[in-house]
Amino acid sequence: VQSMMAASTAPPCGRVALFPLPYHGHITPMLRLAAILHSRGFSITVLHTDLHAPDPAVHPPDYRFVSVPDDTPPELAASEDVVALVESLNESCAAPFGDRVREMVVREEEEGGVLRCVIADVMWYAPAAAARELGVPVVAMMTSSASSFRTFMEYPALLERGFLPMNETKEEDIVDILAPFRVKDLQRIDTSNLFGFANMLESVVAGARLSSGLILNTFDFIEADNICWIHDELSITVFSVGPLNKLTPFVGNNFLPEDRDCLKWLDKQAPCSVLYVSFGSVATMDSHEFLEMAWGLADTKQPFLWVVRPSLIRGVSLNPDELPGALLEEINGRGKIIPWAPQEEVLCHPSIYAFVTHNGWNSMIESISEGVPMICKPCFGDQKGNARYVCDVWGVGVELEVGSVVQRAMIQAAVDKLVNGKEGKEVKQRMQDLKIEAEKCISKGGSSEASLCKLVDSVISF
Ligand code: UDX
Repeated sequence: VQSMMAASTAPPCGRVALFPLPYHGHITPMLRLAAILHSRGFSITVLHTDLHAPDPAVHPPDYRFVSVPDDTPPELAASEDVVALVESLNESCAAPFGDRVREMVVREEEEGGVLRCVIADVMWYAPAAAARELGVPVVAMMTSSASSFRTFMEYPALLERGFLPMNETKEEDIVDILAPFRVKDLQRIDTSNLFGFANMLESVVAGARLSSGLILNTFDFIEADNICWIHDELSITVFSVGPLNKLTPFVGNNFLPEDRDCLKWLDKQAPCSVLYVSFGSVATMDSHEFLEMAWGLADTKQPFLWVVRPSLIRGVSLNPDELPGALLEEINGRGKIIPWAPQEEVLCHPSIYAFVTHNGWNSMIESISEGVPMICKPCFGDQKGNARYVCDVWGVGVELEVGSVVQRAMIQAAVDKLVNGKEGKEVKQRMQDLKIEAEKCISKGGSSEASLCKLVDSVISF
């Protein structure tokens, strides 16, 4: 009787369990997807590691949160050794993740519900395998671009054909199998562990191939070729459902407390005048680069809002009072430095002119969604390839000299191009057009809306 009573209250769509990789740029899009599926009638369980665990208090009360112990040594969690970290997370989480999934299946049965599937970050290849072994379907989610996932898939060919390890004399060559990427745009890590990186990607791609679909936070208008290519090569359904940020309000994944006063500061600036500067949650720079950037921004004579999170400058915690007096005067006169911004609200503020960005995928998708042209200063990983698309494919931004250390004059040159030149007007126009295309994709009849409906139908059919 108890289970019959419970059955009558269980939501009709069933439960979906989501397992994000514990990084800000991965957690946010997955929590957005959770919110969207919740709004379409699914019950939600968020599985999470102890590392960067979410705060249940800021989510709907009917979400369930389940902890998966990760055993990550603190020094590894703080290191930049992506391969060691991803492998350690996968190894330590696979068995406990399997246990949690088994418990969820039993609990759903007891409550008269059903666990439809697990949606796991594509980097979680080992936990995904554990769920599949229990007969629970796994849908993989890649939180960055389709071009980035295509690069993962092409990695064996990149090594075989000698594009990698990178030979500096060939760094400007176009990689024919991943055009418009040049060799220097490819995701790579230092040569000492390039093969470790390649092995990790092989596991990631193999896991995706066995999954019941791949979700991407992108949209067909900007990445149709890559989306089709991935679909053809993997022979699984690819759900291109982005931009997710336009489908659901902010989802409470604050990395640091937001400085909301910056919105009042923006209110006082002239329309379309402010440069918003942010390098996301991971990228760092040394103090020399920081000072060049600061002088460069000051020299532009444009107002600027700059996110300098505590970990941005390697080995230094910024104390503005210690900046050279003349620079501080410039900053105080025209700029504002804050530790963390409500980025989406900033990007849609009418005073914003352009976004000086590291080209993290979430930032790019948010910038496109708000029609803000970009000044690209990519740092590592997928960011250089993302910048290629911004500048050379979509034509919605200009680039600082990639690969070299920032010099103050580069900022001035990029801003001149964007603010004063004919190129700037064209870039701005193309960005407005792209924003409209993004809106069309998520509207009724649009490609992302159709993909989302297909995802919902697929999950219900599992
Ligand atoms: C990481 C990688 O660095 C990036 O290359 C990859 O594409 C995604 O994962 P991250 O560096 O955090 O991401 O950058 P990004 O993907 O741009 O995500 C940053 C997120 O933080 C965005 O959603 C942005 O809105 C948010 N943010 C950033 C804030 O809310 N406030 C800020 O001040 C800065």
